Amino acid sequence: MPTTCVIGAQRGDEGKARIVDLLADEADVIVRFQGGSNAGHTVMFGGQTYRLHLVPSGIFRPEKTCVVAHGVVVDLEVLFHEIEGLRNQGFEIGRNLLVSDRAQVVMPWHRRIDQAREKSAGRQAMGTTGRGIGPAYADKVSYRGIRICDLFEPAWFEERLRLNLEEKNPILERVYGEAPLDFAQIRDAFMGHAEKIRPFVGDAVGFLHDAVAAGKRVLFEGAQAVLLDVDIGVYPYVTASNSSALGVSPGTGLPPRALDRVIGCAKAYATHVGNGPFPTEDHGAEGQRMRDVGKEYGTTTGRPRRCGWFDAVPVRFAARSNGIDALALVKLDVLRGFPSLRICTAYDTPHGRTTNLPASAAAVAAATPVYTEFPGFDEDVSGVRSFGDLPANAQGFVEAIERECGVPIELVSVGPSREQVIRRGGR
Ligand code: GDP
Ligand code: IMO
Ligand code: MG
Repeated sequence: MPTTCVIGAQRGDEGKARIVDLLADEADVIVRFQGGSNAGHTVMFGGQTYRLHLVPSGIFRPEKTCVVAHGVVVDLEVLFHEIEGLRNQGFEIGRNLLVSDRAQVVMPWHRRIDQAREKSAGRQAMGTTGRGIGPAYADKVSYRGIRICDLFEPAWFEERLRLNLEEKNPILERVYGEAPLDFAQIRDAFMGHAEKIRPFVGDAVGFLHDAVAAGKRVLFEGAQAVLLDVDIGVYPYVTASNSSALGVSPGTGLPPRALDRVIGCAKAYATHVGNGPFPTEDHGAEGQRMRDVGKEYGTTTGRPRRCGWFDAVPVRFAARSNGIDALALVKLDVLRGFPSLRICTAYDTPHGRTTNLPASAAAVAAATPVYTEFPGFDEDVSGVRSFGDLPANAQGFVEAIERECGVPIELVSVGPSREQVIRRGGR
């Protein structure tokens, strides 16, 4: 396996972790390169379900190295909680986890400001996960961020903390009517955090350079998805990072050419948690059925996910903008029992029909999906392991998605568990 990146080709929660867990078997190093604890990644094997927010999904294979690279904004309390949870479940976490010394730290004001902004935004609220992600990245790019390496320089850290509180406390108090944050309390807590995180911290840029130079198989685990990418997603209904393969190089310090292959994950239907335009959203019984059967509730926030039919317009856009080499199609099993299945192939807009994703959120919101209908399948496909054994109608639906998106589908997932997958290698 060359260096490979797994990304979401829709709006998040496309089973990226489930695919990373599978491919991690053939990798040496698994890397998170962007996002933060807004991600909710689920892995299932041996009858157990594991949920991760920051730790890469390769962690269940102790002989691999998992890296939290500097593109990730790290909420240390969430990370400690996650490490403790994994240890309690019998997984060894030690030298197999490397956290970049250059990574930005999510500070208490980031969460507070994220949540306060959302509360005050009314109809303009984004539906964020409330994990402080936007404010943490905003501070990073406006030179106010605090990085993990700063925690080991107490005098410098105190200066940075003071500078931030002088700015953030007035915002909390005067703009949002919230209580201010206490300098000493945060300083003491983070000096404790520094000692706790120290054993995991290192030069991830150097480590990754050496790994690639040595021909190690590196697997990059995307969080969120192309449509949520801050630059190419449906702005402003995005997340604050380059949540696509575009984020690998800035998020790791590896040169762009270090990435050999991109795998896009897509559900056989569409979901969205959070606000923003969603042309194929189904508010009726079909959407409800997808939610019930697909257990479409957010991994991080528990919010019900909005559901609808597969939309080839954004997936095509994702494929093109990210150079997706192959798709992993997940949750095909969820579509069992629908009399007919639909794929949106184009949008009708006030300016005519288009197969391209418009830039403006308002234009996407105004788009009317153009559907092609396919006959459904009634058979339980969760035990199928070879493509030829799928019901003919299920095969036809997968092939139609492949055709519409212009990308080969190499993996078809038919259940949440590690082994519930059909490999269509060499396509
Ligand atoms: P991620 O954020 O992209 O890693 O995806 P999430 O973990 O947030 O959401 C995917 C959900 O779908 C998880 O609950 C998985 O256990 C589940 N899942 C993944 N693949 C399949 C599949 O093929 N069939 C079914 N029924 N569930 C799946
Ligand atoms: P994974 O990695 C789905 C969405 C939020 C909101 C927007 C901005 O599990 O696929 P943020 O908290 O990032 O500032 O919220 O992005 N969002 C996700 N949606 N899956 C995720 O991660 C998401 N992470 C953020 O719902 O619409
Ligand atoms: Mg998720």
